This record gives sequence, C-alpha cells and structure tokens, in this order.
Amino acid sequence: MLTKRQKQILDYITKCIKENDYAPSLEEIKRHFRLSSVSTIHQHIEALRGKEYLEKIENQPRSIELSHQKKHSDLIRIPLLGTIAAGEPIEAIEDRETIKIPKSQISKSGEHYALRVQGDSMIDEGIFDGDTVVIRKQPTAENGETVVALINDNEVTLKKIYREKNGFRLQPANPTLRPIFTKEIVIQGKVISVIRTFKELKIGAKTFRVVKQKAIKKFEFDKIICGDVLEKMAEIPNNSIDLAITSPPYNVGKDYDNHFDKMKYQEYLDWLEKVWQETKRVLVPGGRFALNIAPTGIKDFVPLHHDFTNQFRKLGMKFRTEIIWYKQTMLKRTAWGSFKSPSNPHIVPSWEYVLIFSKDKDKLDGSYKKADITKDEFMKFSDGMWRIQPERRRKGHPAPFPEELIYRLIKFYSYKNNNVLDMFGGTGTVAAVAVKTGRHFVHIDISPQYCKTAQERVNTISKQQKLIINRKEKTL
Ligand SMILES: C[S@@+](CC[C@H](N)C(=O)[O-])C[C@H]1O[C@@H](n2cnc3c(N)ncnc32)[C@H](O)[C@@H]1O
Repeated sequence: MLTKRQKQILDYITKCIKENDYAPSLEEIKRHFRLSSVSTIHQHIEALRGKEYLEKIENQPRSIELSHQKKHSDLIRIPLLGTIAAGEPIEAIEDRETIKIPKSQISKSGEHYALRVQGDSMIDEGIFDGDTVVIRKQPTAENGETVVALINDNEVTLKKIYREKNGFRLQPANPTLRPIFTKEIVIQGKVISVIRTFKELKIGAKTFRVVKQKAIKKFEFDKIICGDVLEKMAEIPNNSIDLAITSPPYNVGKDYDNHFDKMKYQEYLDWLEKVWQETKRVLVPGGRFALNIAPTGIKDFVPLHHDFTNQFRKLGMKFRTEIIWYKQTMLKRTAWGSFKSPSNPHIVPSWEYVLIFSKDKDKLDGSYKKADITKDEFMKFSDGMWRIQPERRRKGHPAPFPEELIYRLIKFYSYKNNNVLDMFGGTGTVAAVAVKTGRHFVHIDISPQYCKTAQERVNTISKQQKLIINRKEKTL
C-alpha cells in the first residue's frame, strides 16, 4: 500500500517521464510539492523503491526509473552538425557527430539534424548559449519562425525570419541586438525544439544525478492547450503575443467543468495577479490586453474591475480605455432591490466592461498592409459603447464570448498574422475568431471538455477555409 504522499510523488514522476522522457530531479520534485528539504523526497523515493514501484540505477545519468519502464525505447539518433551562432554569423558545419534525443522532440515527418548554439541573440525565444537546437530540414518558413539561415554564401545564423519589401530581416530575439537585413537567403531548416544540458547534483554520499539533458519543446502556436493557466503560460516565450483577450472566472460560483469558482477574495486576486504578471511577460512591447469583466455585482458589491485595474497599473501596464459591452439584457431582470423606494434600490448591470491595457508603449509595430479593418468597422468600433447580445449557443459552457465581441477586439487591436492569446479560453471563441481573421492563436483552458469543443470548432473553421481557398484556386 502506498501512502497518499507516495502516490502523489509516483504520479508526478510518471507524468514527467511521460512528458519529457526523463524523471524529474529530486530538486524538481521538492519544488513541485513545495517541500523545504530534498531529504524528505529522498525518503519517499527510497520507500517507493522498497515497495518496488521505482528502481534506482547507480552511476546512470537518470537515476530514477519506473520499474516497468524501458528507458531508451523512445530515443532517436540524429546528426549533430556543429555549432551555430545565435549572435554574429560565423561559419558553421564542423565535425559530424550524432546525438540521441527523445522522438517526441522531432516532427512526425522530415529530416532532422542538431546544432549547438553559441551566443545570446535568441534568449527571448528560450534559446541560450550552450543549448542544442533540433532543426527540421526545409527550404521555406513562415514570418516569425526561427530558422537556420545561410547568408553571404558561407555564413549561417539562427534568427527569426521576416519577409521585407526588398529582401529579408533576420531578427534576434534579444532587444539589445540589431536585426540583419539581407536580399538573399537560403533557409536550411526551422527550429523544432531545444535541448538543454544540466549539471550533476550530489546529495550527501549518494549518487543522484540530475537530468542529463532536458528537452524543451519549441513553443507552437495555433494549438488548443489543456492545462492550468500558470503552468501552461510558463511555456509561452517572452514578447511573443500581440494581443491577449480573456474573460477570467469571475469568482461568483459559476458551474465550470473543472474549476472551483468561489475562492476567498484575496486568494482569487493573488492568483490572478500571477496570471497578469505572465500576461505582461508574454506580450510584445506595444501589445494589448483586453480584459472582459462584469461590473460590481448586486450581492456583495465588490468592485472587481477597479481591483484588476489597480493590479495592472501596479505592474506598469498602461490603462488605455474601457469599452462598455452593452448586453441589452434588461428585459430579463429579476432584481430591483427596494422596488419603487429609495431605501435600497439596485442598478442591475446590463453591461460588462472590456478593459484595455498596453505594455511599455502605445503603438503596436506592424505593417500598414497587414491592417485589415475597414473604414466602416473602424468608425463603428471606435465608439466605445458596443451593443452586442450575449452568446445564445453555449456549447456546454456557462459563459462563452459572443463572436462579434472578439471580432471587434481582434480587428481593432491587431494586425493580420498577429498572435492572439486567451489564457482562459473556454470553448474557444478567441481561437475560432483568430482563425477566421487570419491570426495565430494560443488557447489555454483547464477543462478537457471545453478544450475538446474548442478543438472541434477550430478544425471545422480550418476545413471551411481550406475549401474556400481550393474553390478560389479552381476558378482562377
Ligand atoms: C469565463 S470562462 C471563459 C469562456 C471563454 N471566453 C469562451 O468564450 O468560451 C473562464 C474559463 O476559465 C477556465 N479556467 C478556470 N480555472 C482555470 C485554470 N486554473 N487554468 C486554466 N483555465 C481555467 C474555465 O474552465 C472557464 O472555461
């Protein structure tokens, strides 16, 4: 029989091995369970070994294994072609070695190779000096993807690529460095994942070694991500989101699939403050955050929208405006307070707010050609009173956005091809409208049920769009 803690630790190790192909280090387990000492973890590990749930292999890079696990079955060998500069371009391709990596770190198809990284020009993309990047060979790439680029005939460099009017811009992911502009370029592949090497860890006399290699999968956009907001946002690179739009749980006791919506108020604010910190980190300078929130309720009169605004201002985000989303729901009202008497009457909120914040600067960089809002739309949306009915087709969710609300925010505040995030994505309204309007999306929600609905919704829209493109090509 396992104790509750032993079971939790075993589950955590199993999950890490499944996700990363490596067991977590004792330090990582300690951090995960918020314990103060590694020796407590050590005791639990020893107990799990005693009960034959774990095996410990002396003098092996990965010291913990599940008893039934075949450790290297999921590894694959790829060529390690040399060192690549993430700073100034240098000549690359040196000796030909090979490296073993988890199969999960490469794409399902295509040829792959690895390069060691030198320099710090890609640090904001999570690629550091000494890392190894896994590259999928391909001659083309989309704007904003990280590629191995051959320039000036014999120099290769690792940068984000952007097509410009007269050639290409190779953009470092490090605000202190300048981009390289070049007319000609040969793309030698795009970065699929990053492998990081960690040092050994010795605990007392025992030989526990920490992760030999930790594989960090490169962040992929246009994915429905099911999981906890803070855990999943941590995977989003710095300065990579142009517009975040969300409606968090309001903490009013709504019946969500997988979330308790009635925390203590301060606990709720502290939790969301961490989400806002992450939001600021992932936004590009000039990036916007549109936060939908209801006004003061008629039960407890908590001015949540003011508390959120203060949190953002404390974080250094600029409060740009508030949009009034007038829901026109007064006909359905059920609460008057002291009816026909001034003793204690209620104003019933028939509206919600969309609070708009920006990071670091007012302007969002982008090409005028990528601005796709029409004149009529601009005139209409820039009047901050938006009359939009709440969504009627709820798709099993208690509070989905109406698509019109998100359409207006996306068109007004972002360019085509921009990255749009909803970290409390629900049934995927933001993702769906992002696809419809030619933006990339990141959707996070903790409920597998809502994520499934969101995925189906995005798949249907993508299929419809492909059909339209095929039809257009046929008629041309
Ligand atoms: C107000 S709803 C968002 C609805 C969404 N705007 C839509 O159009 O469907 C808030 C969402 O937050 C999700 N949620 C609650 N706690 C979460 C957490 N810790 N991590 C990620 N999502 C969470 C809930 O499952 C719920 O879908």
